[in-house]
Amino acid sequence: MDQELFEAAVRARSHAYIPYSHFAVGAAVRAVDGRIFTGCNIENSSYGLTVCAERNAIFAAVKEGVREFAMLCVTADTPAPVSPCGACRQVMAEFHIPVISLTNLKGQEKRVKLEELLPYAFDLEGQENGQS
Ligand code: THU
Repeated sequence: MDQELFEAAVRARSHAYIPYSHFAVGAAVRAVDGRIFTGCNIENSSYGLTVCAERNAIFAAVKEGVREFAMLCVTADTPAPVSPCGACRQVMAEFHIPVISLTNLKGQEKRVKLEELLPYAFDLEGQENGQS
């Protein structure tokens, strides 16, 4: 367990805006230079506009110019380590986040590779040779 990254995710979770689901999620992503960026889920009365913790963490890094990542940690108060939604997996694939640490508040961890979370991902290379 990357304890510092996990604790950052737990802290970020405390800021979750969750009036609809009441399900708080926290995420923290570590850049290759060591810096940590965090996110929580932010819901909306127009439910589909909700953004998950993982995407908010990744976007917090990208908007600071960070493009190279080492690992992302996601956490929630779940019986088993929480698993990211499909949309977040696609965003993780976009930025080639190599390792994802799925955790819960009990400190249980399941580490997975990006390819395990989203095999055969559609990516930039997948658009090569397409018709313009
Ligand atoms: N959620 C996340 O933030 N990350 C996940 O990995 C799963 C789902 C959020 C979206 C919504 O605010 C709430 O959890 C219930 O789906």
